[in-house]
Amino acid sequence: MRTELSFAPFHAIQTELLAVLAADTQTGKGPDAKPAPTLLIHDDTIQSAAAQVLASGEFKAGANETLLLHAPAGLAAKRLLLVGLGTQAKVTVHSVRNAAGAAVRFCKPRGIRELALALPSSEGLLPASARAAVEGAFVGDFDPDTYRSDRKDQSIQSFTVAAPANGDRQALEAGFREGAIIGESQNFTRTLVNEPGNKLTPTVLGQRAAAMAKEVGLQCEVYSTDKLHELKMGAFWAVSQGSAEPPALIVMRYEPEGVSDGPVLGLVGKGITFDTGGISIKPSDNMEKMKYDMAGGAAMIGAMRAIALLKPKVRVLGIVCAAENMPDGKAQKPGDVQTAMSGKTIEIINTDAEGRLVLADGLAYAKQLGATHLIDAATLTGACVVALGMVNAGAFSNDEDTYAKFSAALQVSGEKFWRLPLGDEYVEMIKSDISDIKNTGGRWGGAITAAEFLHTFAEDTPWIHLDIAGIAWVEDARPYIAKGPSGVAVRSILEWARQYAKA
Ligand code: BES
Ligand code: MN
Ligand code: ZN
Repeated sequence: MRTELSFAPFHAIQTELLAVLAADTQTGKGPDAKPAPTLLIHDDTIQSAAAQVLASGEFKAGANETLLLHAPAGLAAKRLLLVGLGTQAKVTVHSVRNAAGAAVRFCKPRGIRELALALPSSEGLLPASARAAVEGAFVGDFDPDTYRSDRKDQSIQSFTVAAPANGDRQALEAGFREGAIIGESQNFTRTLVNEPGNKLTPTVLGQRAAAMAKEVGLQCEVYSTDKLHELKMGAFWAVSQGSAEPPALIVMRYEPEGVSDGPVLGLVGKGITFDTGGISIKPSDNMEKMKYDMAGGAAMIGAMRAIALLKPKVRVLGIVCAAENMPDGKAQKPGDVQTAMSGKTIEIINTDAEGRLVLADGLAYAKQLGATHLIDAATLTGACVVALGMVNAGAFSNDEDTYAKFSAALQVSGEKFWRLPLGDEYVEMIKSDISDIKNTGGRWGGAITAAEFLHTFAEDTPWIHLDIAGIAWVEDARPYIAKGPSGVAVRSILEWARQYAKA
């Protein structure tokens, strides 16, 4: 998708479709209150072209509601699309991101390949909405039907952000450029997550990461079995030992010029390219979905891509522990005891709790390579989905300052994470009779005992754990995003990293 930024008057923009945003400015309540859809731009020609339909009551400016007008009077655009943002008091830059996605997804099935979106002129939304609109357009342009032979190429060829006259041009241009990098990086992650387990093995994931790294100028090494043995990654190896596919330890490094001190951020991702559960095998219902069990790893790869292109002045290390969790004559068994890289011994209660095993060694390795601050992302537990539904992802941290930076990042990314607690009582639940720790803590508080398991390996290095099991896959299509991989966490991890950058 090509992107352009235009400062032309909105009504003069020549395009197949001009999208204009509207909010509901109704104030009264009660039976007589009527929605009051209002365009958020200053352009008399467009206001009069839309006046009749706005007065008709057909369009209520609900969030992502759309209404199309052909041949709007006085406009250079062939079509005018009204896109709702919902109640005006609740409109944020995140509403604009979604509305841009909704405009794109309106065009795609209708064969419209080119569109422009007029940014609202309200000072509160500028200039951040330029970036958000481009991000939203990329998110909306993604569809998961890669392997359909009748896949019509519906992708948008050109997306123009039309900026109002009152905006700060430099800031708009900067945000616009960032939006494209971030949107493409999120979609890069989604493409990886969408791939089935037979197409995307740990080895192939390593190849994809290496190819991306080469393109954007990141250092990248991909190791396998020998390196796991050399580093004594007994927990990571235990997961992969039941598969015919060798594991991949992906190490990406971003070392900006002139930054030789300060923090080193360690991004660690769970890269289970397929999770059968192993000997503690999963039921067959919905097992196909477990191709997405590498979404945390893919998020780290996408975040590293964005970091390499946006060049914040902070060193960042990305580690993805990729393996396939399979049952086999060589697979690990419940009751086995594994020795992790850190030297801690782990009793395997359930081979389906494999994500925490690969991450245990990934976190230890990040620390060995010099990480001063850690963040991990994983589709780790069904318990997190039970707790938070498919609305919020879970977040955990052992350090307030580190988490405050993540909270600040969420303000920018618009992604929904909800912090859950850690605590010594939960550590008790994963004590083992035979070894230092066991890999499950029973049914209750499963997302937290999993987090405490990881905490044992992060130790007191400032650390954040993101459990994205409920959010990494969109179960029901929304107006602004297709059903399928969401690419969640890419934007938030990127923004978190930028919080540590030197001015
Ligand atoms: N990849 C799964 C987590 C998962 C489950 C994600 C359902 C999305 C939906 C993970 O490896 C897993 O199997 N976790 C187990 C842990 C349990 C055995 C302690 C789970 O959540 O059931
Ligand atoms: Mn599992
Ligand atoms: Zn898993």
